[in-house]
Amino acid sequence: MCGIVGYVGGKSALDVVVDGLRRLEYRGYDSAGVAIVDCEGDCRLDVVKKAGKLANLEKELQTTPMPGTTGIGHTRWATHGGPNDRNAHPHTSCDGAVAVIHNGIIENFRALRDGLESRGHELDSDTDTEVVAHLLEERYVGDLAEALRAVCGQLDGAFTLVAVHRDSPDMVVGARRNSPLVIGRGNGENFLASDVAAFIAHTREAVEIGQDEVVELRADGYTLTDFSGSPAVGREYHVDWDLSAAEKGGYPYFMLKEIAEQPAAVADTLRGRLSPDGGIVLDEVRLSDQDLRDVDKVFIVACGTAFYAGLIAKYAIEHWTRIPCEVDIASEFRYRDPVLDRRTLVVAISQSGETLDTLMAVKHAREQGARVLAISNTNGSTIPRESDAVFYTRAGPEVGVAATKTFLTQITATYLVALALAQARGLKWADEVAALVHQLEQMPALIERVLGTVEPVRELARELADARVVLFLGRHVGYPVALEGALKLKELAYMHAEGFPAGELKHGPIALVESGVPVVIIVPPRGRGSLHDKVVSNIQEVRARGARTVVIADEDDEAVLPYADVLIAVPTTPTLLAPLVTVVPLQVFACELAQARGLDVDQPRNLAKSVTVE
Ligand code: AGP
Repeated sequence: MCGIVGYVGGKSALDVVVDGLRRLEYRGYDSAGVAIVDCEGDCRLDVVKKAGKLANLEKELQTTPMPGTTGIGHTRWATHGGPNDRNAHPHTSCDGAVAVIHNGIIENFRALRDGLESRGHELDSDTDTEVVAHLLEERYVGDLAEALRAVCGQLDGAFTLVAVHRDSPDMVVGARRNSPLVIGRGNGENFLASDVAAFIAHTREAVEIGQDEVVELRADGYTLTDFSGSPAVGREYHVDWDLSAAEKGGYPYFMLKEIAEQPAAVADTLRGRLSPDGGIVLDEVRLSDQDLRDVDKVFIVACGTAFYAGLIAKYAIEHWTRIPCEVDIASEFRYRDPVLDRRTLVVAISQSGETLDTLMAVKHAREQGARVLAISNTNGSTIPRESDAVFYTRAGPEVGVAATKTFLTQITATYLVALALAQARGLKWADEVAALVHQLEQMPALIERVLGTVEPVRELARELADARVVLFLGRHVGYPVALEGALKLKELAYMHAEGFPAGELKHGPIALVESGVPVVIIVPPRGRGSLHDKVVSNIQEVRARGARTVVIADEDDEAVLPYADVLIAVPTTPTLLAPLVTVVPLQVFACELAQARGLDVDQPRNLAKSVTVE
């Protein structure tokens, strides 16, 4: 949820850290701060922090020289304590010698704070994080990593912690439980960050820090241990995208760039997925063929947009594998006590691989004996590490808070997983699987075509900038698309927007329709067994009550013409693949409408890219 950067080396730590924070601001933008150890003369610790976006901190830093080659920095998404200067990270100890930054929630902070106050500490902020600075002050006797290990033993909850100490000026220490923390290995310099994007300008060599591990980072290397001090070994890997992937590349917003990257993202996710013997290739499989054959129930767990990808996947999984599939909001999953056993496959979908609700659902599933397959866009993140099999989407970094290209790649990935399951159960021959993969391979070109025809969608969005409410209707796989269209509008344009299954309309939601209300309807392709005609009737029903109908339909669908106030034509696709094209105009619509309202598309209010607290 928060962005964390640490640096030790030969450069200006302030420059490196602030540059890293700029690339991590999508993780939270309630406040930002830095702490630099300055050893010109006697060593001292300088801290500057400011409420609001990083730009506020940068302005402050223009008049605050902070020399030093060891430092840490933080962008915050507030949990405990309002988003003001006082609650901004880093937090310091009473003696001002230790500075700490944190991502996560320390659940027992109240008791720890009471204990610290009874021992004479004076705490300054309303945050859970500040207790760590004071506990480190108590535990530090010359070895900062040892002090951090001892403090971690006192903490409950999820945390990434990174700290510096005035008297250990050549090191940064970090600890990780549930929230991500990665080492960047440089030449005579090293980095710590919650995401490789923070240091990709300096190095593409990364090391995963494992669960419940502490790192001592120096300019010439690093040491990893578990919380009890036993040596640990991190997984080293090469980041296979470069700096340009994490930059705007001429677009005013990351979201616009990421929408434009969708054809490539889907194509990359599909690349090399069909093995020479006709099987589907996953990335990591710690399951046997028999385990896959034994699956008799699938649960999909995910949040937000990833959840909607799961809703779409359900149609393909049940249709192709004939295995019952349920889709759960991850934060609800374990609390409803689902029936799970070793024949259950839980598919966890998470772009970031670090959404805590999804991670907790995964842990619960595994405790009950279920197998877990993760679909994630983030190599080496926590959810894939906790899973029995992994499928990585290859969308590249997604910086805009609103998910776009990762949604399309998640749908693609779930379809390939469904085919793998169908094949394992002997329900699809290799040639049938190859034919379906081939259909998927046609999609990038069709998405490209949609992107080339969205100018009228932009015009419509500008026209509707003052609308109070927008409704979205869909059926079958069009229903989750309607939900996603509404979510995009809520999170980007702060508008009241709702998605409904079109068949439910007459059971209540139609009461919302009045003169001039825009209703966006996603019409299914025509064909045998299609719901096309029923949805066309729904268009007529809302239109008869004064709605302004915005119809998304196949380009050769003439049946909708009489009832569409605005027609958005998309290329004809097979039924299950339609979401890959129908959602694109909805992304553009929300993005343009937010811009027309003068809003920051990449950093909508109150949100952060990944939610690493429950
Ligand atoms: C979508 O636009 C959102 N920003 C959000 O719903 C997101 O999809 C959700 O938080 C899940 O994130 P994840 O895929 O990283 O787990």
